Amino acid sequence: MTFDEAIKARHTVKVYKKKPIPADVAKQLNERIKALNEGLDVFMSLVTNDSSALNAAYRIAMTKNVNNYIVLSGKNEKDLEEKLGYGGADIMLYAQTLGLNTWWVSGTFNKGNAREKGGIPGTNLIKGIIIIGYGENNGIPHKSKKPSEVSLYNGRSQPFWFIRGVGAALLAPTSLNRQAFMIRCTGDKVSISCDKGPYSDLELGIIKYHFEIGAGRENFVYE
Ligand SMILES: Cc1cc2nc3c(=O)[nH]c(=O)nc-3n(C[C@H](O)[C@H](O)[C@H](O)COP(=O)(O)O)c2cc1C
Repeated sequence: MTFDEAIKARHTVKVYKKKPIPADVAKQLNERIKALNEGLDVFMSLVTNDSSALNAAYRIAMTKNVNNYIVLSGKNEKDLEEKLGYGGADIMLYAQTLGLNTWWVSGTFNKGNAREKGGIPGTNLIKGIIIIGYGENNGIPHKSKKPSEVSLYNGRSQPFWFIRGVGAALLAPTSLNRQAFMIRCTGDKVSISCDKGPYSDLELGIIKYHFEIGAGRENFVYE
């Protein structure tokens, strides 16, 4: 499965099989996480065979066999959330290519347990967890805005790469599926913004990642 295909196949999954993540798959995930941590200067950490970071209310209702997650953390710096959004989007799609399913949780989770189990340094901020495992199902596509509601192309006809980028962004996860982003483009110059919200900077990183996969990084520059 390519990342393009993973973007189409990925949906939030909250009900998982008991099946643990095999050691060789965990190793692949850890290698990818290590490379992302080094490249982005963040601290993401995979925790397997533990459910204690999921809030108790979630554990009772709607979910099953949530036993693994990735803690999203990093140093208290201005662009931390955008970087974690970008890195988190990458690891979600990579997981999808390995046959796993995921669920991003930034709202309600047990930060203390996530810190302890994830071995997160005391001074780091934690911005969410990504639940990961083998889904009982593959989830369902979210309701989506139209490309014209989230993008603005300044010129005569939109290039194919721009259309593909916006399409990939519309498939990205956003908090409460709000899709409150705007992608503007003039020629090959692109700018992406998110309306203010509790997770808008995480969303900005996620949307940028998806747009880049869809559009092809070689086709545009950020303004
Ligand atoms: C930054 C962020 C925070 C999220 N926080 C939560 C959360 O606290 N609880 C939850 O159930 N889902 C959470 N989600 C999952 C979204 O509700 C979900 O991604 C969205 O409805 C779109 O569905 P999809 O992932 O199937 O495309 C979050 C997603 C993102 C990107």
